[in-house]
Amino acid sequence: MSRAVWDRLLSEVAQAYRVCPALAEFTPFPEDLTPVEVVPFDVPPAQLLQNEAGLTGDRFAAVREAFVAAAPQAQWHETYKETSIGQDFMDRFGCYCLIGHGGAFQSPQFRAWMVYMPAGLHYPWHHHPAEEMYLVLGGAAEFHREGMPSETLRAGETSFHASNQPHAMTTTDSPVMCLVVWRNGFETGPSLTEREVQ
Ligand SMILES: [Fe+2]
Repeated sequence: MSRAVWDRLLSEVAQAYRVCPALAEFTPFPEDLTPVEVVPFDVPPAQLLQNEAGLTGDRFAAVREAFVAAAPQAQWHETYKETSIGQDFMDRFGCYCLIGHGGAFQSPQFRAWMVYMPAGLHYPWHHHPAEEMYLVLGGAAEFHREGMPSETLRAGETSFHASNQPHAMTTTDSPVMCLVVWRNGFETGPSLTEREVQ
């Protein structure tokens, strides 16, 4: 299978990095990447993304298109499959790695993936040891972080999540696509936050 789709996506993500100083301040773009073969894994949200008409706007259009182009070859995740999250969420929430688990590149110090949510979906409170940054690539979502006011973010805006700080996300009228990066805490994946979050 051709590596071209992954090389294109890597180049577009690196370009998004160059125009978003908050990402580079969070952690530098890695220079120690190893290419690896991707074993594709399909999930229902992959088809939703292929048919998505609500991710518009010139800003980050190239990186969005590169994520869509790579989607049929990607190893989509089922992060919350063994949880109480429910089938509707599993059918509509999509993510896959470019750098990291199941992704086309590996780095010992960095993870990068895409999150896609169609309109009208709630991603419940969750947390993980990793420090994390979201960059909105298109659409809009309301971002919730424990201890902070909720805020609606659009293309070019970022949300930082501290280690084990519960966070959640809601789409209403628009879908959202985000680039997500981690800089540490790779050993433990996200968990739904069972306790009450303020
Ligand atoms: Fe997170």
